[in-house]
Amino acid sequence: MSALPSQALQLILDVRGVSKRFGGVEALKDVSLKLFPGEVVALAGDNGAGKSTLTKMISGVYAADGGEIRLDGEVVRFSTPEAARHAGIETIYQDLALADNLSIGANIFLGREPIRRVLGMIPVLDRARMATAAQATMARLDFHVNRMDAPVGRFSGGQRQAVAIGRAMYWNARVILMDEPTAALGVPEQRKVLALIGSLKAQGRGVIFISHNLQDIFAVADRIVVLRRGSLAGERRIDQTTHDEVVKLMIGG
Ligand SMILES: Nc1ncnc2c1ncn2[C@@H]1O[C@H](COP(=O)(O)OP(=O)(O)OP(=O)(O)O)[C@@H](O)[C@H]1O
Ligand SMILES: [Mg+2]
Repeated sequence: MSALPSQALQLILDVRGVSKRFGGVEALKDVSLKLFPGEVVALAGDNGAGKSTLTKMISGVYAADGGEIRLDGEVVRFSTPEAARHAGIETIYQDLALADNLSIGANIFLGREPIRRVLGMIPVLDRARMATAAQATMARLDFHVNRMDAPVGRFSGGQRQAVAIGRAMYWNARVILMDEPTAALGVPEQRKVLALIGSLKAQGRGVIFISHNLQDIFAVADRIVVLRRGSLAGERRIDQTTHDEVVKLMIGG
């Protein structure tokens, strides 16, 4: 897995030897992970292996006890997920952080609402801009719903997933972390999310994709990083490994 020199120059995310302890539990021990533009890296491992903990350290939920995280070569320490989002790191969970009672547009702009001034002074929410951005973003994802202004709580899991991905695209996220995004979806919706990952990749974004589904991993990932009980168990290019080898890395022995 040696990177080409030209790739090394444009590394987006560089996680170096991070560790995290929760009381007596060493959730992560000296784990490193690199992410290049246009690359999908799958993060695999058994329950409790440390996958979610690693993404939460990258996305500003937890501070690392040791090691460092570099974004575009600069050491970053995000104290909140908002700070990470502003730096271009978006996280998408199955039960993702959408506001159910709000529209697609309002969700895209959640926490970053555009303001316009009426009569040159009174600040009001720029709903027209939100609606236009929502239309454009969803069209870009080739995603269609009957009512763009409906609260997203009425959408299916896959549609909500698409809204979250659309939000990451709208704000130009460079790194998109997906923690089991397809776990609770039906087969057609899973396919749609996998296709959306393909479009993120085509746009040169970096995706970290956590899944227990090896078929999904082999369908979308370029590389796979396997964690076992908080440590790096191995790393492979997808075209140079097999399901069997990955399972062996996961369970050890
Ligand atoms: N907030 C927390 N407090 C205490 N322990 C935690 C906390 N979060 C995670 N852990 C522990 O850290 C270890 C790694 O958990 P983590 O959630 O990262 O695993 P995972 O690989 O995402 O597992 P899964 O596949 O089940 O989602 C586990 O032993 C877990 O119990
Ligand atoms: Mg997890």
